[in-house]
Amino acid sequence: MQQSRRNFIQKAGNATLGLSALAIFNPLYAHDVESASKKVAHLSPKDAAQDEDFWYQVQKAYRQSPHFINLESGYYSPEPLEVLESQLDNIKMINEQPSFYMRRRQWDDKKAIKEQLANFAGVSADEIVITRNTTESLDTIILGMDLKPGDEAIMTDQDYGSMLETFEMRARRFGIKNKIISLPLHPKNDNEIVDAYEKAITKKTKVLLVTHLINLTGQILPVRAIAEMAHAKGIEIIVDAAHSFAQLDYKIPELDCDYYGASLHKWLCCPLGTGIMYMKKEKIEKTWPLFGDTSQPVDSIAKFEHIGTHPVSTNLTIAAAIKFHNSIGSKRKEERLRYLKNYWVEQVKDLPKVIINTPFEDERSCALANFAIEGMQPKAVADYLYDKHKIFTVGINRDSIQGVRVTPHLYTTKPELDLLVKAIQELSEA
Ligand SMILES: Cc1ncc(COP(=O)(O)O)c(C=O)c1O
Repeated sequence: MQQSRRNFIQKAGNATLGLSALAIFNPLYAHDVESASKKVAHLSPKDAAQDEDFWYQVQKAYRQSPHFINLESGYYSPEPLEVLESQLDNIKMINEQPSFYMRRRQWDDKKAIKEQLANFAGVSADEIVITRNTTESLDTIILGMDLKPGDEAIMTDQDYGSMLETFEMRARRFGIKNKIISLPLHPKNDNEIVDAYEKAITKKTKVLLVTHLINLTGQILPVRAIAEMAHAKGIEIIVDAAHSFAQLDYKIPELDCDYYGASLHKWLCCPLGTGIMYMKKEKIEKTWPLFGDTSQPVDSIAKFEHIGTHPVSTNLTIAAAIKFHNSIGSKRKEERLRYLKNYWVEQVKDLPKVIINTPFEDERSCALANFAIEGMQPKAVADYLYDKHKIFTVGINRDSIQGVRVTPHLYTTKPELDLLVKAIQELSEA
């Protein structure tokens, strides 16, 4: 494994890569993130972000394919090996005691996991549901919230496609009105973003959809400022936190949102098919669940939990993912991800033909960034990176944004990013 990955990267054309930085992918090497964390405890998160000895331990906690460089961690995150092992243990444990587990143990375990997740998110367990993903969380909210025909909802052309489609479905079926606004790619300040939402508000506006960290560009929106503006006018706010949960260091109450959804299989590195839905306690009673459940009180979050039989082993594994995340530290993780993004962006941003579609300020971006090459289609750029250098990214071609999204993760090494920089230099000179 270690050997083939090293050979691969060398073959990919970067003879200058140091061996020590590459000798990290042998899963037989033990990693010890917890004790490595103690050694960087005296450093600020920003300084710790550059301590390669520490990140070497974190990189070893993951196992990545030797056949390509994964810079498309925006789709979802792999589990660290110890989380994967916990998931396998959970699958085996439940498989040994199938119906017995479901009838006798499932609910106590779920309660304990919910407590841990709520604590991690900074909210009460009475305000969250473990879902399967952001889509389930936000669709439940969009379709279940208290809106009447003629009520207006505001969203942007950079929000996630399936959320826009669910609002469109609600408009077609129940007569609400959607307004889709545009946002700048490089805002001058928070006010420019808040004003964009505020200008679209009318007396009929009831709700804003706000994406905390836009998946297309990596731009972070000032959610709290938008929420304050909206609440002063009696308007609610739904936050799509698919990419901010466990990428950025914050607790949900800091956003002051009314409704919130995120996927745990993205930046928390949980098994595929885990998500969180949050709503303020006082919003629960007036929101309808997607799946019928009349047995629970209408003001209890439990009414959203009846989704039928599902792989509960994935939910149990949330505990191991939180433990792994905490062994690194939220702020340290955020700063490392931002450091990796800055590492490549800084080297290419002034090259001829290179356009960066992501804000440069630290508070406006973290791991994700999007770049374009003048005169080239995004898909052609992504294909070049993969075909020539085996660097896997994704081309994005929406009306609001055209470019290639590059998403490093904790397992990304600097030599891998050096190869990306070299490839972008080639495109810039072509
Ligand atoms: C901003 C945003 N919202 C929602 C989603 C949907 O996430 P999931 O497919 O896990 O439901 C994504 C997925 O990439 C996303 O980027």
